[in-house]
Formats: sequence, C-alpha cells, structure tokens
Amino acid sequence: MAREIAAAGTPPPSARDAFDVPDGVVYLNCASLAPRLKRVTAAGHAAVDRMAAPWNIHTPDWFRDARALASAFARLIAAPAQCAALVPSVSYGIAAAARNLPLRAGENIVVIDQEYPSNYYSWRRLADANGAEIRSVRPAGNASLTDAIVTAIDRRTAVVAVAHCRWTDGCLVDLPRVGEAARRHGAALVVDASQSLGACPLNVGDFQPDFLVSVGYKWLLGPYGLGYLYVAERWHAQGEPLEESWLHRAGSDNFASLVDYTPDYQPGAARFGQGESAQFYLVPMALEALSQIAEWTPEHIHRQLRAWTDELVARAEPWGFTAPGHSQRAGHMVGLSSERGLRPDLARAFAERGVYVGIRGSCIRVAPHLHTPLDAMDRLIEALQTIAV
Ligand SMILES: Cc1ncc(COP(=O)(O)O)c(C=O)c1O
Repeated sequence: MAREIAAAGTPPPSARDAFDVPDGVVYLNCASLAPRLKRVTAAGHAAVDRMAAPWNIHTPDWFRDARALASAFARLIAAPAQCAALVPSVSYGIAAAARNLPLRAGENIVVIDQEYPSNYYSWRRLADANGAEIRSVRPAGNASLTDAIVTAIDRRTAVVAVAHCRWTDGCLVDLPRVGEAARRHGAALVVDASQSLGACPLNVGDFQPDFLVSVGYKWLLGPYGLGYLYVAERWHAQGEPLEESWLHRAGSDNFASLVDYTPDYQPGAARFGQGESAQFYLVPMALEALSQIAEWTPEHIHRQLRAWTDELVARAEPWGFTAPGHSQRAGHMVGLSSERGLRPDLARAFAERGVYVGIRGSCIRVAPHLHTPLDAMDRLIEALQTIAV
C-alpha cells in the first residue's frame, strides 16, 4: 500500500483507510468537496434505512441528534453549545448576519477582494439598501492580506466580513488582529471559516466574531447541504431569524400544543438555524464526520498537511510556480500560480492523469487530506511539469 500522510497519537492502522478513495486516484480537491469517510457513508446508509420505518421516529428524535451536532461544532471552535445553529449553506448564515447587523447611510462594509460570492451578495444588497459602501480589500505591494484589511477599517466601518483562509490560494487572515481592529472601531466581525475549519485549529475566544459560518462538506468532511453557524451571545435575545421554523419556538417538543403560538424561541442561537433542522439523513453523517475530526484533531491534521504542502511548494518552485509566503499561508491547502498563466483546459488535463486539483482564479489550488498518499506528490509534480509549464 502507498505510504500516506501519517496520523499521530494513537492512530488507526491507516488514516487513508478511513477514506473511500480508490488507489490510483490522486484527489487533491478537499477545498471543493471532501473525500468521503467510510464511516460517513455507513451513517448515511443507516439513516436511509432507519427512515424507512417512520413509526420508530419519536419526538426526541426531532431534536436530539441536531443538538448533538450543533454542540460538536461548538466544541470545535471552543464556543458555548448554545451559540451554535445548523444552516443549509454559507449564504444562509451570511444572510442571517446581514439581517441582524445594523448599518447606516455613509457607513461601510469591509470585504476581501474576489471573496467567495456567498460572503458578498448579502452585503451588496444590505449596502445598496442603506446607502452604504462596500470596501473591497486587495493588498498592495508587500502588505499582507491582514494588513490590508486592518488598514481599510475606520470609524465608519459597520461590518468586517472576511474569510479565515482565502478560497483561491490558502492565504490566511490573522483573525485576532482583525477582530481587535473591528472592536476598536465598533464594527461587527463576520467570518466565513469554510476553507479552514476542521483542518486548522480555531478558537472564537481569540477573535470574538459576531457571526461565524462554515460549510460542512469541505474540511469538516461531512455531507453537502448542512453547514454551521456561530452567533455571539449578544445577538441572541433580539435576533431576527430568516425563517420562522416551528422547531425553534419555545415548547416545540410538545407536539400536542404546536398551535399554542408563542412569541418565544428556544434559548441561544437556535432561532437562527434552518427550518427542518432535524435533517434525519444528513445529521447522522455529519456527526460521524465531526467525531472523526475530533479524534484526529484539527491541530494534528493541520500539522500533517503542512508538511505535505511545504514539500510541494519547495518542489514546484524550481518549475516556476509560486505560492503565498510561508508565514502568510495556511498549511492544509495552497494555490500555485505561474507568471506564464494557466491553460484554459488545465483542470481537465490534470483529471485525464487521475490527478484532481481545483483551478481557481490564476491558481492551481492543491488541497490534500489524510487520505493523500505520499506518491501523489510525484504524480502531481510530474503533471505540473508536463502540462502546466
Ligand atoms: C470560502 C467559501 N465559502 C462558501 C462556500 C460555499 O457557499 P454556499 O454554502 O453558500 O454554497 C465555498 C465553496 O466553495 C467557499 O469556498
């Protein structure tokens, strides 16, 4: 069997064996869709079977697993469980934040230039509706992305909406610095952690966001269609949800009195979550995924992937590829760019060699996970030399 990126601690016989990726496939696109864990697949099949007998689904089942999942997400970011809610997408979580954060005419919202659209369009709409400005930040010269964000924040900034890790090239944002600058100017901080959570340690106490959202199907190794939202306690009491799910109202676990309508919600961030939050098919799969990450730990995953991407950058540089500087980039993914530019059919040319990467903007985005065999590096470098130089 190919050598794989090793798991430390008391690892299972092989971290690679935990994934359902056939030998011969060099899948380096976790930043798009996670490789599937076998235990996630098994949980999905079991959930389908279980739902074939709906008479065995009882009132607590509508709440218990969803709450356990929200708690597992909260543990991952070192937040209180009551600050977590389940959402179907990042765009949903960002829309919930935009619904609740105040913005006045003449104020501004700071975003990263060429940010993923799910963390842009709600801000565009909010700014247009209120006569406010969108400030798109692009670092000039030698400035880091964080320097550029911090410089753009001023006393008229109402919201700073940033990623933790840039989706195209793995460039990291120093969230504690940005959080401190936002608080100093009285601005709210909203973070899209989709491209790091699960593969990077993250502790909300370090940067105190107002809202933080992540998809579940990339570095959190879960199914598509179920993501996570953190809402700081200060927004709970008066918070306005995007939809009024009966599941999130006080007393909703008493099915006999659902039409005793109540103005009260369940405590915490529950109100911000999606309708049908029981998600009988997706929640069991996501629970398995977060359990596996908790066993491996984001610190360990990040350390292993950092060693791999560092070696990749060192081997790609002589062939004319550059990456964000070591201290600027995350360890788990990296975008390689070339002054020569990239041919338009590059992704297909890689795929024809059984090598799967993402082409994003001007970058070849390489996003491995613990399933990645070490000989994948040779296959990738060989492909780079043959079709991308
Ligand atoms: C940074 C980032 N945010 C969000 C998403 C997905 O957003 P949504 O859940 O709204 O489809 C992606 C998908 O690639 C992403 O890279």
